Amino acid sequence: MEFSKVLEERRSVRNYNNKALLPDTIKNILEYAILAPSAHNRQPWYFVVIQNQDKKKKIGDTLEEKMGLEGKKTCDVIREAQALILVFADIEDTIMDLVSVGASIENMILKARDLGVASLWMGYILNIEDEVKKMVGVDKKLVSAVALGYTLSFPSKRPRKDLEEVSYWLGEI
Ligand SMILES: Cc1cc2nc3c(=O)[nH]c(=O)nc-3n(C[C@H](O)[C@H](O)[C@H](O)COP(=O)(O)O)c2cc1C
Repeated sequence: MEFSKVLEERRSVRNYNNKALLPDTIKNILEYAILAPSAHNRQPWYFVVIQNQDKKKKIGDTLEEKMGLEGKKTCDVIREAQALILVFADIEDTIMDLVSVGASIENMILKARDLGVASLWMGYILNIEDEVKKMVGVDKKLVSAVALGYTLSFPSKRPRKDLEEVSYWLGEI
């Protein structure tokens, strides 16, 4: 897909179908995630891939049990999407490393869209950070989770603030 089109057509997707997501496709997406820039080239990211239905269900159920119905849709996505990628960071410098890991997540969801794979970036999982770390046996900072899978239709574009509202050109050229 043309690069600008990938940016324009990426969406947060909350409805997934049953079409299988091949491990090679996930690997391909992660290969692009690790091309992201990082502060001092520390590459502080670490990804845990979960395709096992029972394990995904356990994470979705744990989140729903703790948080109630408020974020149920996110819990459903965790249970229903074909893969859940837990994204961790090795933190040396908090802001720099978190921003770097964020860049890798953006690469991930853009490459996914390029391949026709739907995604959802989920911060809500942080509500069960300790539980998740224990479940997967990783002692790093949990940053986010990303759901990956296929959808029957990508939703339409969500609203954006006007560029004028969020930018300012200082001085004259
Ligand atoms: C850091 C971050 C955390 C997010 N966490 C969640 C989440 O837990 N659940 C969810 O449904 N969407 C989550 N989103 C998706 C946003 O709601 C979404 O990006 C926004 O509404 C704009 O929609 P779009 O991505 O389709 O353009 C998150 C996005 C980001 C960048």
